[in-house]
Amino acid sequence: MKSFSGSVLIQLLVLQLLVVVSVSQSYDFFYFVQQWPGSYCDTISECCYPTTGKPASNFSIHGLWPNYNDGTYPSYCDSSNPFDPTQIADLESSLQVSWPSLSCPSSDDTSFWTHEWDKHGTCSETILDEHAYFSAALDLKNQNDLLSILNSAGILADGSFYSLSSITQAIEGGVGYTPGIDCNTDASGNSQLYQVYLCVDIFGADFIQCPVLPSDTCQSTIAFPSFSNYNNEKRPGSLLASLLLYLLSGIQLADSDPTESQVSTLIEQGVML
Ligand SMILES: *[C@@H]1O[C@H](CO)[C@@H](O)[C@H](O)[C@H]1NC(C)=O
Repeated sequence: MKSFSGSVLIQLLVLQLLVVVSVSQSYDFFYFVQQWPGSYCDTISECCYPTTGKPASNFSIHGLWPNYNDGTYPSYCDSSNPFDPTQIADLESSLQVSWPSLSCPSSDDTSFWTHEWDKHGTCSETILDEHAYFSAALDLKNQNDLLSILNSAGILADGSFYSLSSITQAIEGGVGYTPGIDCNTDASGNSQLYQVYLCVDIFGADFIQCPVLPSDTCQSTIAFPSFSNYNNEKRPGSLLASLLLYLLSGIQLADSDPTESQVSTLIEQGVML
């Protein structure tokens, strides 16, 4: 009897330890990443519109990514909880507007949402289930209108060049927190405004000052290309083109997630605070 209760006690202690370990393996904050479709499309690899049509000329969601304060991040945390479209059926039309896919080949957006949930969303599932996760991202998007904030500061998506600091300051003024700006390169080699990183508390509810920002990928002067005038979408004209696009899509999907390559070098935002 004595040894029985002793083993129960040990089992309880082991259980408690497991709980502590799994909680400490959680995450410290979210990156909420929005992308400018004009810059996604305006590269050598170009883009494909979703089957629902050309997205609005507006910033759109790339993802809501659990992250650690040291700049690293967890991924693919629970293969037993894969993306289930039926759980977000009521959000689908809003997601099509705010979280469209631009990767090739053209698809309905669910392949993009599947990737984001399986890779990132499952790492915050203890706090946000699938519906709460996508719902949080939509709410965050609607808390700030990045395009209006930039336009009000005279920064227009018309192919003009602006100083990186003027863009950072305009967003900081409008949102209240310092953004991370991520650039890519257009077909002529110009650095251009591609993504805006903002940080959010672990509940996906409120913006916070970033504990750490992604490494700087921009030149000091960057372009802000038009998307409303963009009309160079890749349209697969032949079976061969479709096949090529399909084969390339694996590469583009990897490219579309910049933290994979960037987390290795990080600027400690704490120094600047
Ligand atoms: C852009 O998105 C913001 C935030 O969701 C929204 O308030 C605004 O109306 C959108 N603007 C356009 C031009 O679609």
